[in-house]
Amino acid sequence: MSPEEFRAAAHQAVDWMADYLRDIRDYPILPNVEPGDLIARLPKQGPEHGESIDAIFEDFRNVIVPGLTQWNHPRFFAYFSNSASGPGILGEMLAAVLNANPMLWKTGPAAAELEQISLGWLRQWLGLPEEFFGIIHDTASTATFHAVVAAREAAGVTAAPLVLYTSEHANLSVDKAALAAGVQRGNIRHIAIDDEFRMRPNDLKAAIEADLAAGYKPFCVVPTLGTTSSTSLDPVPEIAAIARRHNLWLHVDAAYAGPAAILDEYRYIFKGCELADSIVLNPHKWLFTPVDLSAFYTRRPEVFRKALSLDQAPAYLLGASTNAVNLSEYTVALGRRFRALKLWFVLRYYGREGIAEILRGHVRMAREFADRLAAHPRFELAAPVLFSLVCFRMIGSDDENRELLERVNRTGKAFLSGTVLKGRFVLRLSIGNIATTFEDVLETWELIKSLVPAPQSLPDDAPER
Ligand SMILES: Cc1ncc(COP(=O)(O)O)c(C=O)c1O
Repeated sequence: MSPEEFRAAAHQAVDWMADYLRDIRDYPILPNVEPGDLIARLPKQGPEHGESIDAIFEDFRNVIVPGLTQWNHPRFFAYFSNSASGPGILGEMLAAVLNANPMLWKTGPAAAELEQISLGWLRQWLGLPEEFFGIIHDTASTATFHAVVAAREAAGVTAAPLVLYTSEHANLSVDKAALAAGVQRGNIRHIAIDDEFRMRPNDLKAAIEADLAAGYKPFCVVPTLGTTSSTSLDPVPEIAAIARRHNLWLHVDAAYAGPAAILDEYRYIFKGCELADSIVLNPHKWLFTPVDLSAFYTRRPEVFRKALSLDQAPAYLLGASTNAVNLSEYTVALGRRFRALKLWFVLRYYGREGIAEILRGHVRMAREFADRLAAHPRFELAAPVLFSLVCFRMIGSDDENRELLERVNRTGKAFLSGTVLKGRFVLRLSIGNIATTFEDVLETWELIKSLVPAPQSLPDDAPER
C-alpha cells in the first residue's frame, strides 16, 4: 500500500469512525445474529489475490459491524460498561502506525519510558505510595496471573502444597491465575462473604490456620475492591494484617473500582493497599481507554524479574539489554504493544479533574436510578450502591426477573446483565460509558417499569412509593 493509497483509505476510515461515534445511538446494542452467522457468510478460504480496500471496507461496514455488540453505546449497561474515548482511540491508532515494540528499553525507549510516566501519574492520582512500580498488561486476568507467579516465587521452594485465598465473590480470573500458576484446583479457598458480599477476615484467618495445621503452605491472598457481581469492597486493612502475620503475598484486584480512588471522596477504598504486594486496575473498564489496558503496580518488582529471568540471556538478545528498565523482564510476554500511548492521551486530554467529574457523574446517575427504584413498590435494591453499579430485582420469582431482563434486552434500547446475590437472580445496571447521560438512565428506568410482566404490571401513572 503506497503512502498515498494509505492516506486516501485512512481519511475514509477516519470519516467512518467519526460518523460511527456520532451516530452510535442509532446502532442496535445487541446484534440480530445467531452463532455461526458470520462464519456462514464469509468465504471458507482466504483470497488468492489481493482485494481492494474499498471491497474490504464495504464488508467491514455491512457484514462485520452489524454483527457486533456495541460496547460504545451509551445504553450498554451490562457487565462493567466502558467506552473508547476520542483521545484513547487516537492513541490506539497512532500506536498501530508506529508498531513500536518496547520489549526492551532499546527497542522502544520513549514507549518504555512513557509507560513509566503514565502509570506514575495515575499512581499519584490514586494516592498510592511512590515505591509502587507500574507495568501495563493486556488484562487484569494476565496481571493477576503474574501476581500469583510472583507470590509463588516469594514463597520459595516448598514440598507443602500451595494454597491461595480469595472470596466467594472473586472474579473468575483469580481462579484461572492460580490454576495457570500451578495451584491445585482443590487448594483455592473461596472465603465466605458477609451480608454485604465482603470477604470475612475471621474466616480467612481460620482457613489459614487450619491449612497450616494440615501441612499446607498458604502463600497468597487476593481481596477484591469492586467485586464483579455487586462492587463490594473486601476489607483490605484487616486482610493485609493477616497476610503480613502469615507472610502471604497480598494482591488486590481493583480492576473495576480502582479508578474511583482518583476522587477524593473515594480515596478511602485504597486504605490498606499501601501494604499490598501488588494491585491491578483496569483503565479499559472505568477510565475511557479502549480495550485492552490493565495497570499493574507492585512494591516488589524484583520478585517478578527473579521469577521470570533466565540464568543467561538467549543469544539473540545478547547485548540488547541495558541498565534501563526492560519491561519484558517482568512479564511472560517478550513482545509488547505500545499501550501507554492511549493512556497518556486519555490522562492528558481529560486531566485529573476532568476524569473525576465524569466518574462522579456516573456515581450520581447510579444513585438517582437506585433512589427511584427503591421508592417503587415493585422493585428492590439487591446490594448497596457503592459506585456506578445498581443491582436490583423486581419483587417476584427468579424466572420473572430473568424474563424481565430478556424483555429489556430484546427491545434493543438498553442492555443490562444479571447475576445471583444471596441465591436470587438480580439485574445489574452498570454505568461506565463516557457518553451516557442522565436521560439515558431515566429512559431506561421507564423502559424497565413498562416491561414489568402482567398481571402484576402497574398502570403507567402508578404512584411511586
Ligand atoms: C473484579 C474483576 N477482576 C478482574 C476482571 C477481569 O478483567 P479482564 O477482563 O481485564 O481480565 C474483571 C472483569 O470484569 C473484574 O470485574
